[in-house]
Amino acid sequence: MNNKFYITTPIYYVNDKPHIGHAYTTLACDVIARFKRLDGFKVYFLTGTDEHGQKVELAAKKNKTKPQDFVDKVSINFRDLLKCMHIENDDFIRTTEKRHLESCQKLWDLLIKKGHIYLGKYAGWYAIRDEAFFLESEIIDGKAPSGAPVEWVEEPSYFFNLSKWQDKLLEHYNNNENFISPSTRKNEVLSFVKGGLKDLSVSRTSFSWGIKVPNDDDHIMYVWLDALTNYLSAIGYENENERFCDFWPANIHLVGKDIIRFHAVYWPAFLMAADLELPKKIFAHGWWTNEGQKISKSLGNVINPFEIVEKYGVDQVRYFLMREIPFGNDGDFSVLQLVNRVNSDLSNSLGNLFQRVVSMVVKNCNGKIPKKPLVFLSQDKFLINSIKDKLDDYRDLIDNQKLDQYLKNVWVIIGNANKYVDEQAPWLLKKNDFNRMEVVLYTLLETLKQIGIILQPFLPLSSNYILNHLSVPADLRNLNSINTFIDGDIEIIIPSALFPRIENN
Ligand code: MSP
Repeated sequence: MNNKFYITTPIYYVNDKPHIGHAYTTLACDVIARFKRLDGFKVYFLTGTDEHGQKVELAAKKNKTKPQDFVDKVSINFRDLLKCMHIENDDFIRTTEKRHLESCQKLWDLLIKKGHIYLGKYAGWYAIRDEAFFLESEIIDGKAPSGAPVEWVEEPSYFFNLSKWQDKLLEHYNNNENFISPSTRKNEVLSFVKGGLKDLSVSRTSFSWGIKVPNDDDHIMYVWLDALTNYLSAIGYENENERFCDFWPANIHLVGKDIIRFHAVYWPAFLMAADLELPKKIFAHGWWTNEGQKISKSLGNVINPFEIVEKYGVDQVRYFLMREIPFGNDGDFSVLQLVNRVNSDLSNSLGNLFQRVVSMVVKNCNGKIPKKPLVFLSQDKFLINSIKDKLDDYRDLIDNQKLDQYLKNVWVIIGNANKYVDEQAPWLLKKNDFNRMEVVLYTLLETLKQIGIILQPFLPLSSNYILNHLSVPADLRNLNSINTFIDGDIEIIIPSALFPRIENN
């Protein structure tokens, strides 16, 4: 199937409540998934929770709860976040589900059968916060490179023969220019792999909260082997059903920059070893700080996505997160910036355009959308064609994850439309050229319709409001139908304010 599109978020650790980082990765995937659906693709958008491992086991202990009860409870918060952010995922996988356990054991058996996993003994550093093993040479001032505390671990362990895949990985990176994006991340991964890969410990024996290694009850699988496999298990790897054949390999795994190594080195090596196709792209986005400071629980400055959505609105938060920083870079979350963006881009530019155009139509055209004009002037055509003639640009921007740039482009058109209102001055035309006034207002409504269509992936609620208000039928809201002009002679009423200004905070 050529027009299928499989996109994934990382699955989130359930040791704690969802924060802005989780909301951000999931939102970016939602935007891309929604765009692809609009463009006629059959999309599978997966997210979920990573429920095993030492970190989660410890969190359960701290809460004096059994791990299973604990994860059942915390996982719900992540589902709630999806609702709160208006995320349209197709599936939600939990690593404690049967379908996942079966897929992990199937992959393990295959790797054993092909001779890529062997039994040995691990002696080295482990950081529970990162759920990662570290070499002596990677330890900085007694800590993991991320700053996480490490502990010395010595235990029997199965190893995956990662070292054997070094050249094949390098070859794959070379032959597939965009496999790791953006390019700064690619360079980071290249130098790590060129530095030499050691075989990877893939089982643990010192605790039990995980998936049992087949035929060796003393071991549970290393949580990252378990977690990465979710991308296969969700689409039916355990019985390689039709969905699996349709959707594997994934088109994109979108992740944060901190977990690029697991996705761009370990995961492709596991897949190569299992003779499975590799995902087409691993894209790593940057990290948010909060008012200039690193976000951390100990600093007490974690941003709660439920609270900001409640306070500022879903589309407002979605817009800010996607517009504020070039996607892929780090950025700073500042309330002042959020308020400025909402007020200037949403209230003043888009909200105001919608409000004033529709109000003029209601007042001057008998509460009806004017009929489609027979003739447009060049300045009308310029506006009307500026989105629908540029759909390939938007497609490219989405395929290259330039999400902020997409919004910038739309706002140029919103700016042009506002300028056109001023220049054409329909309130003056009303007196001396009524027909021309109708053409101008129709041109603006048609442009607003296209703006509504193209903004659906980012601002699902407000674009829905715009399109409903303009009586655009549900089946004419996709990219393919953007050329169908809006119907005239249809009743229209004064809208309520789309984005009320945030006055004081
Ligand atoms: N469970 C693993 C992923 C396994 S995928 C097979 C994991 N989970 S996590 O809950 O710790 O992190 C999930 C995501 O949140 C990561 O992509 C991470 O980059 C992102 N973020 C965490 N803090 C962040 C910010 N401050 N800013 C942006 N994203 C951040 O890792």
